[in-house]
Amino acid sequence: MSIITKLAIAASLATALSSGAMAQDLTGKVVGFSQIGSESGWRAAETSVTRQQAEERGVDLKFADAQQKQENQIKAIRGFIAQGVDAILVAPVVATGWDDVLAEAKEAEIPVVLLDRGVDASEDLYLTSVASDQVVEGRVAGQWLVDTVAGADCKVVELQGTVGSTPAINRKQGFEEAIADASNITIARSQTGDFTRSKGKEVMEGFIKAENGGADICAVYAHNDDMAVGAIQAIKDAGLKPGTDILVVSIDAVPDIFTAIAAGEANATVELTPNMAGPAFDVLAAYLADGTEPEKFIITESKLYTAADDPAGEYDRRKGLGY
Ligand code: AHR
Repeated sequence: MSIITKLAIAASLATALSSGAMAQDLTGKVVGFSQIGSESGWRAAETSVTRQQAEERGVDLKFADAQQKQENQIKAIRGFIAQGVDAILVAPVVATGWDDVLAEAKEAEIPVVLLDRGVDASEDLYLTSVASDQVVEGRVAGQWLVDTVAGADCKVVELQGTVGSTPAINRKQGFEEAIADASNITIARSQTGDFTRSKGKEVMEGFIKAENGGADICAVYAHNDDMAVGAIQAIKDAGLKPGTDILVVSIDAVPDIFTAIAAGEANATVELTPNMAGPAFDVLAAYLADGTEPEKFIITESKLYTAADDPAGEYDRRKGLGY
């Protein structure tokens, strides 16, 4: 990543976490946003920050909630194309099945920016992608566990994200890479919790039953914080102490996980900024003004937080962002 991209991301993160930084003017531009839904606290924050970033720039944002269904996203994108919007933002629920609709947007000369998830499609079908490196997120979580158990035997249960989504695929891969040389750590069970709190709890209850009432589980790795929060409830319901009897590591850094970390009920989270729209609008402003081509991948930071990182303060910093 170039220093310029890094600076752009740092500036827009600052805007999301405080306010008042200068935003690129996009007054009068109409931008369609096909959002996945509201499966998690992080998703709610991304929606809220995108609306805020659009308002700061004078963008007329057309918002479409796909309720977790790709067919709704494809319909919404076709609607945006028919309306002749200036640009389209899309957070793709799954990786495959986008070629036709992206080709239609390209044909209509409407730039598309991918937010927070990737697609298995030719790179020339979209202008840029603003997302974290999800393999790195998984590696950071896995490395934390390797360091924390320090050679002790550890049976892990994994709560995967939505089947076929890039964060589920990549976060699994990254975690497995990080523990590959640690023969003391094994993934005993792995199942999707669809990135939701309720499913995370339900699947964790099954894991606990199957693993000697939870006594055989050393750690839960959840692909997002909402599933971790659901798992924490399941651990408590089973009469065990989350964070102590069963370690909890996840991804997103939403306020609720900081409450759990502060209470000693979760151990670590990897931050995913909800501000994907800030960098997206910045590159769109330049592209729509004079055709400036952005870098293909704008990568946001993946920082680890534990109890040593002032969880109460981190909770406060995130309040008001729409989580
Ligand atoms: O694509 C990002 C993931 O989607 C977030 O980690 C998760 O919370 C959300 O649902």
